Amino acid sequence: MAQIRIENLRKDFGAFNAVKSSTFTIEDGEFFMLLGPSGCGKTTTLRMMAGLELPTSGLIYIDGEEVGQKPASQRDIAFVFQMFALYPHLNVGKNIAYPLISQGMPRREVKQKVGEIAEILGITDILNRPVGGLSGGDRQRVALGRAIVRDPKAFFMDEPLGALDAEFREHMAEELRALHDRMNATTVYVTHDQLEAMQMGDKIVVMNHGVVEQFGVPQDIYDWPATKFVAEFIGSPPMNFLDFHGMVGTGETRVSLGDAALDIPAQREGRSGELTFGVKPEHIRLADNATYRGRIAATEYLGTTQIVTVETAHGSLKARVAASQRVTVGDHTGLHFDARTITIFDATTGRALRSEANEGVLTHG
Ligand SMILES: Nc1ncnc2c1ncn2[C@@H]1O[C@H](COP(=O)(O)OP(=O)(O)O)[C@@H](O)[C@H]1O
Ligand SMILES: [Mg+2]
Repeated sequence: MAQIRIENLRKDFGAFNAVKSSTFTIEDGEFFMLLGPSGCGKTTTLRMMAGLELPTSGLIYIDGEEVGQKPASQRDIAFVFQMFALYPHLNVGKNIAYPLISQGMPRREVKQKVGEIAEILGITDILNRPVGGLSGGDRQRVALGRAIVRDPKAFFMDEPLGALDAEFREHMAEELRALHDRMNATTVYVTHDQLEAMQMGDKIVVMNHGVVEQFGVPQDIYDWPATKFVAEFIGSPPMNFLDFHGMVGTGETRVSLGDAALDIPAQREGRSGELTFGVKPEHIRLADNATYRGRIAATEYLGTTQIVTVETAHGSLKARVAASQRVTVGDHTGLHFDARTITIFDATTGRALRSEANEGVLTHG
């Protein structure tokens, strides 16, 4: 299997710049997520890595060898585009065997290999069935079997579950992840779904408008967004932003929003001007004695928790509190923020300022 590294990768389509200057490393055996909204350059990045698109500039290494100008056929990557694309006139076993037969592998070896793959995927009992009558899940397993049967260096998957309904999708996501854990194959997986990325990924790259916004393990990306874009894209509801004009000095542990002095992690870089105080819904408490205040505008009951919308002098925010807490729309309330979890952003550049809490994990693209 393979380590893949891309350096300053760029792609222009005529005058349009689709991927700006991406740099990241995918370690051997990782389940790696390329995450971002539609049109941000995920597919283009993956196609360049696979050799289906030539980079405008930048380098692509597979196991230390630079392959940026090599054709796809010499990179030994299995690209799972669309999991339902099976050969309808062949049975399950022959669908899986097809890539090996077209490589000229002897029949006995093919049979053994197909048997192993069927075992891994749990489809041994349907090897002789025509693919036509299979359930969606089995069709997907067969398509996967065909992709993994030739032991490629890596698997690339571009929104493979995109067409499925929510329940089935979750089931297949679990299966894909379990399959990965059995085979330990380097996998690069494209999705626009932040939940899917969080659940399945060992590492995540978050892209926006062709730019790598952040690169890291899911927990760090969730807890310590490097940019306001990432903070808004991840989490449901996402991080709240309170915009203010003011300053934070280096070493500072407080900021002033209106009359309230709010505790924050010790800042490693100072800034003045347009700033944003970022706090996640689950790090807000409604507390009568807190000096920062707002008016309850709405509440949404979710069973174990409720999402309470509060209007403040610096914008509206959403707090996630226990469903058992009594909340009355129209009331005024104090707001307590968990100081250790706060991120301050430079509102002009959108970048998080370094603090003692996030400095170890902040990665800008
Ligand atoms: N062959 C192409 N010619 C011109 N523009 C393209 C081409 N392929 C992709 N693009 C543009 O590049 C941007 C990124 O596309 P893509 O990588 O497919 O995004 P994603 O997969 O993140 O949705 C989009 O604006 C898309 O319209
Ligand atoms: Mg795409």
